Amino acid sequence: MNVPFVDLSRQYRPLLPDLMAVFENIIGRCAFINGSEVKEFERHMARWIGLPEVCCVSNGTHALFLTLKALGVGPGDEVITVPNTAFPTSEAINLSGANVVFVDIAPGSFSVDPNLLEQAITPKTKAIIPVHLYGIPADMDKIISIAERHDLFVIEDVAQAMGATYKRQRVGTLGTAGCFSFFPSKNLGTFGDGGAVASADSKFIKMVRMLSNHGRLEKYTHLTQGTNSRLDTLKAAQLSICLDHLDEWNSERRSAASLYGELLSPYDEIIMPKVPEGSESVWHLYVVRYKRRDELATFLNERGIKTGLHYPLPLHLQPAYSYLGLEEGSFPGAEAACREVLSLPMFPKITQAEIETVVDTIKRFLGNQRN
Ligand SMILES: Cc1ncc(COP(=O)(O)O)c(C=O)c1O
Repeated sequence: MNVPFVDLSRQYRPLLPDLMAVFENIIGRCAFINGSEVKEFERHMARWIGLPEVCCVSNGTHALFLTLKALGVGPGDEVITVPNTAFPTSEAINLSGANVVFVDIAPGSFSVDPNLLEQAITPKTKAIIPVHLYGIPADMDKIISIAERHDLFVIEDVAQAMGATYKRQRVGTLGTAGCFSFFPSKNLGTFGDGGAVASADSKFIKMVRMLSNHGRLEKYTHLTQGTNSRLDTLKAAQLSICLDHLDEWNSERRSAASLYGELLSPYDEIIMPKVPEGSESVWHLYVVRYKRRDELATFLNERGIKTGLHYPLPLHLQPAYSYLGLEEGSFPGAEAACREVLSLPMFPKITQAEIETVVDTIKRFLGNQRN
């Protein structure tokens, strides 16, 4: 049996009649930019997440970038994040004009090590971007308490974790702002690129809104220089329909993760992802660690099981950041994770038989290794 890494069509097929009806309506009105559906989705998402306001933007990278701009972070400032995240996290920092400062991940976790944070803070530090990588919440209490001590913004990168909870509160509502991505394969994905910024601070959201729409709040009056980073009406309408299914889709991901956990538990060589006490992951990815990751990935891929790598090269070793002069060994935790991580097939409608096939094939690989 072939097992895809992700199969979005299983989610969308049942929703097709509803989606086509709203698309037909929008196409009939030609309301492609700033149609009423954008505001409706923003209200819908704000209610869902439990904040007064949300501003939709064109993608998750711009959610982070515009958040930094709206908070006044720019040239000469420093912003802290981890080296094992997706490239856009650090890209957004550099786009704002600030400099990225990497801090290693905690042992046994994929998130920033709070014990290393304080020594990375300088008078230039303005913000910390914790990343809820793979859907697993970062250690927010410790991060927020350090940020408060040093008067720093906490910008949550929620691109991979929409719906995850930390002490029963949805991530993205814990820090200064939450930055979301609606890239198609994310837990809530759109038909193309999309993103959103959430915050309890309505003045800040107003600034993000202004920056995302050429620096204006009203037609013809540009209060500042912004950019074009709006979410299209068609996507907002689709996201509203899909948001009603997100809790159910996340719970299907949870069931899949718990089956993986149960079936893989006899195999000590495979290190399973850990979710800290008091947190609930939404399993954007199911990422295991294994020393001979590349051989296992090849074995699975040759047998029709598609896997992913998130991410094989830490950011400080990316050619784009060679100017930082950071060498291998700078962040041993993140580097080891990047060598060992393997993302197994994970999506809402994955079947029990598909998960069993993945685990049986891993078992065969491990059996061959032992013989
Ligand atoms: C952790 C993380 N941050 C930021 C982003 C950027 O989101 P987008 O692709 O919507 O620009 C992504 C998605 O790729 C991501 O996974």
